Amino acid sequence: MSTQIIRPARSLQGSLTVPGDKSISHRYAMLAGLAEGTTRLINFSTGADPHSSLACMEALGASVLHNPDGTIEITGVTGTFRQPAAALDCGNSGSTMRMLSGLIASHPHTFTLVGDPSLTLRPMERIRSPLIQMGANIDLTDGHAPVAIHGTPLHAIDFTTPIPSAQVKTAVLFAGLQADGTTSLSESILTRDHTEHALLAFGATLTRTSSRGSQPARLSIPGGQRLKAVDATIPGDISSAAFFLCAALLFPDSNLVLDSLGMNPTRAALLDVIAALGGRIKILAVEEHHGELIGTIQVNCAPDHRALSPFIISSPLTAQLIDELPVLAAIAPYTANGLIIRDAQELRIKESDRIALVAKNLRAMGAVFTERHDGLEIPGNQSLHGASIDSGSDHRIAMAFAIAALRATGDSEILDAESAAISFPEFFTSLDSLALR
Ligand code: S3P
Repeated sequence: MSTQIIRPARSLQGSLTVPGDKSISHRYAMLAGLAEGTTRLINFSTGADPHSSLACMEALGASVLHNPDGTIEITGVTGTFRQPAAALDCGNSGSTMRMLSGLIASHPHTFTLVGDPSLTLRPMERIRSPLIQMGANIDLTDGHAPVAIHGTPLHAIDFTTPIPSAQVKTAVLFAGLQADGTTSLSESILTRDHTEHALLAFGATLTRTSSRGSQPARLSIPGGQRLKAVDATIPGDISSAAFFLCAALLFPDSNLVLDSLGMNPTRAALLDVIAALGGRIKILAVEEHHGELIGTIQVNCAPDHRALSPFIISSPLTAQLIDELPVLAAIAPYTANGLIIRDAQELRIKESDRIALVAKNLRAMGAVFTERHDGLEIPGNQSLHGASIDSGSDHRIAMAFAIAALRATGDSEILDAESAAISFPEFFTSLDSLALR
């Protein structure tokens, strides 16, 4: 297990292109694997998680070519997956296990989906429940992986998501794509909509109605559809950029330019929060590709920013920022007036209990705060000291506290730092090139 020593910095300067978006990479990998033809992807995520999805697609009969220029070519199975020779290994990736379950549930084979110890503890009933309503035959082990699927034809349902989860939405849409009839899905809290854009990009028919008054947003997808391969460039992952956007808030003279950055509105709430916490963001360019916005932004600290009260993140914003909450919490003690995070109980069942680990590490650095069952209340204007950070083998905790360590007094050590590679293998190298010491 690797330990990284993080020395305090005096500023953050430079430009960065973050690797391709993890969420979009998973979806493109899976839809390309099912489609007819060869999909060419530029800037596929370098994280281990989307590579678990690619390996599963290979096990299901797709062929995957990793070109020397970094592009990936996936030749799909034209609608018919084969019986895999062994269990499908989803690694650490909840997205792979949940979304893939929906994608394969109607194929006439027997599948077992397994994962690492962290993934094996995560709840899977949330996808089993709608999929069995569609006629799927799925067994869990105490609500968790291993997931056993006996493929069987599916029928359409009208489903309302009980929790805001893009993974659950995706499992239902992927199953609906191949079911008998038209599946409808309503979500009262809008989650990331990459699946909707990806399905349209691969030629699927899908209709969307935005929320109106008390009516939730609604999606309809006819079953029995075939997909066609695409050529696509995957935008940079804003959840990876989040670490550096937050780092830029820590020093009055920071100057950071991020290009090829994914700015999908269902993911970009972070930019508003950065502005509210004292950042100044300039959008230098923006374009659209297969429904996804890709842009270049510049971030500095706003001169004389004085917050009057703590910034509150509560539902529905919590769901849109779910992956960025660890780093926002880690830098909250340094902000002018602190941060309150509410309605974030989902954070307790991510790759780790992220509320408990954020609390443990903030405490180790000497911060004062209150832990709640569904969030944290963290006063601002605090000074922290370097500490030994327990990442819990959770990529986002390792990276969040590497950022907090930049403004601490004294060095910090991040235990099990290699877990960053789950989403962002280049993280520590990028940090070294941007942090001025
Ligand atoms: C993801 C959705 C979120 C997020 C995860 C990726 C996705 O999970 O935390 O990192 O790609 O759809 P939930 O669907 O569990 O909220």
